[in-house]
Amino acid sequence: MDAILTPRPDRVTEANHRVANSLSLLSGLVRMQAKQAGRVSRPFSNAEVRLMFDGIAARIATLGQLHRMLAHMPADGTVDLSAHLRDLGDTLVTAFSSEQQPVLIAYHGANCHVLARNVQPLTLILCELLTNSMKYAHPSRVPVRMDVDCEALANGDLMVRVSDDGVGLPEGFNTDTDGGIGFQIVRAMTAEMDARLEISSGSLGVTFCITVPQALVANAQTA
Ligand SMILES: Nc1ncnc2c1ncn2[C@@H]1O[C@H](COP(=O)(O)OP(=O)(O)O)[C@@H](O)[C@H]1O
Ligand SMILES: [Mg+2]
Repeated sequence: MDAILTPRPDRVTEANHRVANSLSLLSGLVRMQAKQAGRVSRPFSNAEVRLMFDGIAARIATLGQLHRMLAHMPADGTVDLSAHLRDLGDTLVTAFSSEQQPVLIAYHGANCHVLARNVQPLTLILCELLTNSMKYAHPSRVPVRMDVDCEALANGDLMVRVSDDGVGLPEGFNTDTDGGIGFQIVRAMTAEMDARLEISSGSLGVTFCITVPQALVANAQTA
């Protein structure tokens, strides 16, 4: 009985490593944001400071949720990404959507069991995309509608698509080079997974499509 209830020491060590890495990543992101803020020569408004702290809180909540989920898994377990993305989306909506700016997410797709190494980058990407849609999709404050789709492709790749129904990215925005911490995280995490990122934007909203090669456990094991 004890053997079942007490986590094995190697599993605890691995979990500690994972949490330590996430904390280093978070601390790096806060430092990056502090540096960028230091380069702005005008004072920040209360609303801007609030958004900055909300963004940091969202990243902490996101990684907290990730580690809570991983804590229940064996070291060689596989992650049901669709269920995890749903939990994460609901957590962020509960924490950050408001009566003035409600956010409604429709989830699609199921059974995307992915390799554990891809879960943290995908989780952080979703955090940035959701918080951005909450902040920017509808400046007029009408409810934001989002779709989060997770699909296992026939060739073993994983596709995650996140879209909103908002005003779209600013005119002339270069998705390869522009943006702040959010876009930097999305680009860096996509590169870390060797994934392909396609972004389309127009007056009906923004869509991010991330295709991760060899991300699905079933295919990766038989490859
Ligand atoms: N879903 C979206 N709808 C409209 N504009 C967006 C959306 N996501 C991002 N943007 C625009 O892209 C910019 C850069 O986003 P990001 O890199 O996350 O930095 P930040 O959120 O700190 O401004 C935002 O300031 C906003 O103008
Ligand atoms: Mg952002």
